Amino acid sequence: MTSKKSRRRGRFIVLEGIDGSGTTTQLKYAAEWLERKGELVHTTREPTDGPLGLMLRQILRGRLVSTPGAVSGDAKPQPMDPAAVALLFAADRLDHLHNEVLPHLEAGRHVICDRYVLSSLAYQSLETDLRFVRNINEKALAPDLTIFLRVRPDVAMQRIETTRTTRDTFEQLPLQRKVAAAYDKLLEGYREGTVTILDGEEEMSMVTTRMRAALDTLF
Ligand code: TYD
Repeated sequence: MTSKKSRRRGRFIVLEGIDGSGTTTQLKYAAEWLERKGELVHTTREPTDGPLGLMLRQILRGRLVSTPGAVSGDAKPQPMDPAAVALLFAADRLDHLHNEVLPHLEAGRHVICDRYVLSSLAYQSLETDLRFVRNINEKALAPDLTIFLRVRPDVAMQRIETTRTTRDTFEQLPLQRKVAAAYDKLLEGYREGTVTILDGEEEMSMVTTRMRAALDTLF
């Protein structure tokens, strides 16, 4: 019998948190840490940089709106229907999964993704039914580890105000409070071990140290 030496499948790691919680910064440190340990890593994000992700970014910036058929002749452009937006996030995710995430995992690379299904459950459930959001994300592969960076909404908003010139639709304090509450509720029901919750308000180097410890549990 011939034995084929196959490379071990990579681990799928996700970073989550409200806007301004520091996922993008910590994602870089997570990749650096794994690479330093000699691991192969691929970093990515959702919404993606693919066609559906680009469309979503336009929607979030309010640059892409719905143009209804003018029944009365004076129909104005309308925001996209929230359920349609939820479907777009789910479609972007499946495209991402099949064309980018899975091929990298199968090639033995660890994939670290900035936001994933939990983002849809937290954000889209504010405007559409949570059960619907869960159902349309049913085909999405479960991550091996999710790292949630917990930061209070007012602290996160302050960070956004000092670092950014443009704002997405979700980046307003009352909405961020609702997103944070939605995340907290969702996290209560998560299985121990698959989600690590970190205090994202600690000094950045401390957050990184704790995140490294969480990553090390995977190996
Ligand atoms: P974000 O990671 O903040 O991207 P950027 O730093 O480039 O602005 O993501 C953009 C927004 O998308 C953020 O407010 C959360 C939202 N989002 C959802 O509402 N649902 C989702 O499923 C995902 C992945 C993101």
